[in-house]
Amino acid sequence: MSKLWGGRFEGRTDALVEALGESVSFDARLAPWDIRGSLAHAKMLGECGILPKGEVRKILRGLKAVEKDIAAGRLAWDPALEDVHTNIEAALVEKVGDAGKRLHTGRSRNDQIATDMRLWARDQIDAILALLDALRGALVDFAEAHVDVILPGFTHLQHAQPVLLAHHFLAYFEMFSRDAERFAQLRERVNVLSLGSAAMAGTPYPIDRKMVAKDLGFAGVSANSMDAVADRDYLIEFCSNAALVMAHLSRMSEELILWSSPSFGFVEIGDAFTTGSSIMPQKKNPDVAELVRGKTARVYGDLTALLTLVKGLPLTYNRDLQEDKEPVFDASDTVQRCIEVYANMIPAIIVNREAMAAAVKEGFMEATDLADYLVTRGMPFREAHGVVGRVVRHCVEQGKRLPELDIKTYKRFSQLFGEDLFQVLSPESIVKRRDNPGGTAPRRVRASLRKARARIR
Ligand code: ARG
Repeated sequence: MSKLWGGRFEGRTDALVEALGESVSFDARLAPWDIRGSLAHAKMLGECGILPKGEVRKILRGLKAVEKDIAAGRLAWDPALEDVHTNIEAALVEKVGDAGKRLHTGRSRNDQIATDMRLWARDQIDAILALLDALRGALVDFAEAHVDVILPGFTHLQHAQPVLLAHHFLAYFEMFSRDAERFAQLRERVNVLSLGSAAMAGTPYPIDRKMVAKDLGFAGVSANSMDAVADRDYLIEFCSNAALVMAHLSRMSEELILWSSPSFGFVEIGDAFTTGSSIMPQKKNPDVAELVRGKTARVYGDLTALLTLVKGLPLTYNRDLQEDKEPVFDASDTVQRCIEVYANMIPAIIVNREAMAAAVKEGFMEATDLADYLVTRGMPFREAHGVVGRVVRHCVEQGKRLPELDIKTYKRFSQLFGEDLFQVLSPESIVKRRDNPGGTAPRRVRASLRKARARIR
């Protein structure tokens, strides 16, 4: 097969150069979007009188036949033809002859790849948004099913204050909601037609860009032909959004790994989402959480690769840009698989209520509320903090918990302590008092749960 740009050349391409330059081994997956773009382009060429209608009909028929061949695995992708575009064009010419050679009128592979990638990215965003909805739904279901469970909330991984388990899971709901918002906003920037920019300066043919945009479902057309073929911002944003999803999944993974360790014993992850050890028969390992935490590194790498790829490129298209594909495909595949696995794994998390209840008793988590108690008796908070600090030190020395001291002992630290102090010490009363918007009071958490449901599309 002769090269599509062969006219200017006399000698053959070195085989190593062909191996270096081919992209069809990884961009063949763009075929459905490439063909959609070509169908819209060909129809417009006919409507605008740039190509005879008869030729356009042949092109459309041919493209659909090629699409069928590809779907059935019948197209023999040829690396010598470089990329997905050239392979499809060659297959088209083989099917419909000379008409196929007219498809590339008023178009360049530069605006073609930009269009393919925007069509592809738009579909991936829609898929990711649907998966994020499933994940957010799983988080809400889980929170609702455990709305009465209290566990230690941590700062510095030290016991801080008791919180509702539902409140903890709704924190992740908020993170993934922001992730969804970011992807939805990106969709608007992605949803712009690049075709019509041709190589980079536009085209002299009397094309109708708005017609093509409408056909492809784009909300508008690019404002500058040079930017349109050189811009990869949207792919960088895509990887950046994916990286944040992974960051959130990875934080959750880290917690599930800790929580399922026998040292914590807060949760057990169901058999379908854990694995065993080849040597230690007792082991049940949280491999899914570990793999997701590990795959986060890949996606960060993908983002870094794309940022680095564009930083030194002069306008407009440079062949370097072909290297955008593998990182962005990898980021997309990875983030989609990880979200899906998590959406499925969350219902398989078994909560050990006893372990959480026992942990809530440890670490003097009543201390803040004890200081707040003194504040209600008129002591300045800073002073109350000091008094309760001394009470805690006493407990540490005596090997006792705060609710285990008697009132006589409390009075030694401050005369403001009264019998009613014991009412503020139960975990239930501690969470119940955090009754402001965004707080962990059961009333607030139940309201957040209802709102969360309504926020899922
Ligand atoms: N395979 C190329 C890419 O992915 C398509 C555009 C090639 N354009 C060119 N003038 N070589 O970037």
